[in-house]
Amino acid sequence: MRKQGSLPVSRPRRLRASEALRRMVRETALSPAHLIVPSFVLEGRGARRAIASMPGQFQVSIDELLKDIARQRELGLLSTLLFGLPAKKDAAGSQAWAPSGVVQRAVRAIKTQWPDQVVFTDLCFCEYTSHGHCGVIRPGGKTVSVDNDATLRNIQKTAVAQARAGADFVAPSGMMDGAVAAIRTALDKNGFSSTGILAYSAKYASVFYGPFRDAAGSAPQFGDRRAYQMDPSNAREALRALRHDVEKGADMVMVKPALSYLDVIARIRPELDVPLVAYNVSGEYAMVKAAESKGWLDGAATSRAAIEIVTSIRRAGADLIITYHAVEIAQRLGG
Ligand code: PBG
Repeated sequence: MRKQGSLPVSRPRRLRASEALRRMVRETALSPAHLIVPSFVLEGRGARRAIASMPGQFQVSIDELLKDIARQRELGLLSTLLFGLPAKKDAAGSQAWAPSGVVQRAVRAIKTQWPDQVVFTDLCFCEYTSHGHCGVIRPGGKTVSVDNDATLRNIQKTAVAQARAGADFVAPSGMMDGAVAAIRTALDKNGFSSTGILAYSAKYASVFYGPFRDAAGSAPQFGDRRAYQMDPSNAREALRALRHDVEKGADMVMVKPALSYLDVIARIRPELDVPLVAYNVSGEYAMVKAAESKGWLDGAATSRAAIEIVTSIRRAGADLIITYHAVEIAQRLGG
């Protein structure tokens, strides 16, 4: 018994004493339903190519993709984000909206087999253009200039092609101004009012996309993306961009990358009433894998780093997380 008049003694360890107790008082829940699995889809059959800078990740043809998704579904992972790797590229990136484009075919194949799989399609052109920029390049000039409005027209065509194939959400990631409004208009006009938009509203000009550009063959052949992606120093601008996209009809909005921008996630969460998505990007994944391979993290506990990281993104306020760690995390959560 406490002596009368003395202060109560705070003993937080009382709540940490056993696994059962820790589970009871855990503030942040993490389940496979919160994770979206990114996949890189190739033309052809039977193809499975390892991505050197992203150990454990592969570029796969559609038949192999279906095998991956079957396995993921057993683990409770019910959503997919598709990136297409077309066999042919051109200056506009026209394979992005071709009816037989690789992403359109992949979506159809997934939806035929599992109508309830939630499919997000990346809606950008850098994997499809010969120059690797996220839209149509204006001729001339010393600095790279992506023609915003010409690109918007291609974004509309691509959104409709992806919706027609069966995508649940199109995900514009090219940071063109006015993309959400343009997509909403095009989808509604073509009878796809039930197709949603996941807007990459706050996408920073980050160094952490490096491995992805290898994986997707989408590195700019000249210049960089700083004229259209957000400056890493800005947080207020991100809040404005996220609010704007929600007003224009985005069903979900994204902050990307996740780890260097947890403050942005935490600040925006109370201001928004739509699901907030964070992208735990390729460079963030590669850093963990590199350290694990050197034994610099707790070697016996592969995937503990991933769980700690993804939990931190949820704790900051993200509802959903796109992560290359999804399968290893789901395996561990299930086990
Ligand atoms: C394309 C796009 C990028 C990523 C997703 N969509 C890269 C970029 O802007 O160069 C990065 C994803 C990752 O790094 O995992 N606009």
